[in-house]
Parts: sequence; C-alpha cells; structure tokens
Amino acid sequence: MDENISRRSFLTKLIGVVFGATGILFAAPVVKYLIPKSSEGGENIFTNADGKPILENEIKEGASFTGLSRSGPTIIIRRGGKLRALSAVCTHLGCLVKWVPNEDVFFCPCHAGKFDVNGANISGPPPVPLAAYNVETANDGRILLS
Ligand code: FES
Repeated sequence: MDENISRRSFLTKLIGVVFGATGILFAAPVVKYLIPKSSEGGENIFTNADGKPILENEIKEGASFTGLSRSGPTIIIRRGGKLRALSAVCTHLGCLVKWVPNEDVFFCPCHAGKFDVNGANISGPPPVPLAAYNVETANDGRILLS
C-alpha cells in the first residue's frame, strides 16, 4: 500500500514537473515578445546584412543604403549633407521600399506605393508613413539610430 501511495505521489509530481516545464517553454517566447526592444539596452547600430556597421562617410550625397537596425530593415539617405533614416518596410503589406533619387521618393515595387523624402505616404495603397528614426554619428563614424 505504501508503495502505491509512493508511486502515485511520484507520478503526480512527475506530471506537475512536465506541465510546469511545458508552461515555461510556451511562456518564454511570449514574455520575450512583450518586453519592449528599447529595454534591451545598448546602441542601435545601423549595419549591413552581415552585421558590419555602416560608417557615416560611406553614404555619399544623394545616395541611399538599405541595411539593418534593431527596428528591422532600415534605409538611410543623405540629402543636403544630412542623413535621414526610415524603416524600409512598406506600410501597406511589408515589401521593401527603395530610394529613387531622380524622383525624390521612396518607391515600393509591390503595388507602386510612394513616400516622400520624409517618409509620408503620398500615393498608392500605403495607409501610413514610413517609421522615421533619429540619426546620430558616433565618434568612430558608426551610425546610431533611435
Ligand atoms: S506592399 Fe508596398 S504598396 Fe503594397
């Protein structure tokens, strides 16, 4: 009889451990998703696809560079000597926009959406502007976004 109680007690504890571990496995990604990225700390460095920082002097006047930041695909253009950083993700269905310098617009090739130089949606189906980021240059030339 004691052996049955012991076995039952063991199985109850085992089931509790299994359910507890399963709960933690499912809850961890949800908790990570809910914690804002800004609380991760550190610098939001603009990089190429390989994670190499893009230096401020690598983006020439009138040129653009599509890279990555903590916010995802990001496009930076230089106009009037000043860098502007915007999300490269179209606000319609998420295609990547590209800078068209001779038209002064960001163009989305998926459904011909257009955004002005500040990221405002000016034609086509995009419902809202591109997200814009503040740009700072570190002493070593790295581009930092916020
Ligand atoms: S995804 Fe950009 S216009 Fe549709």
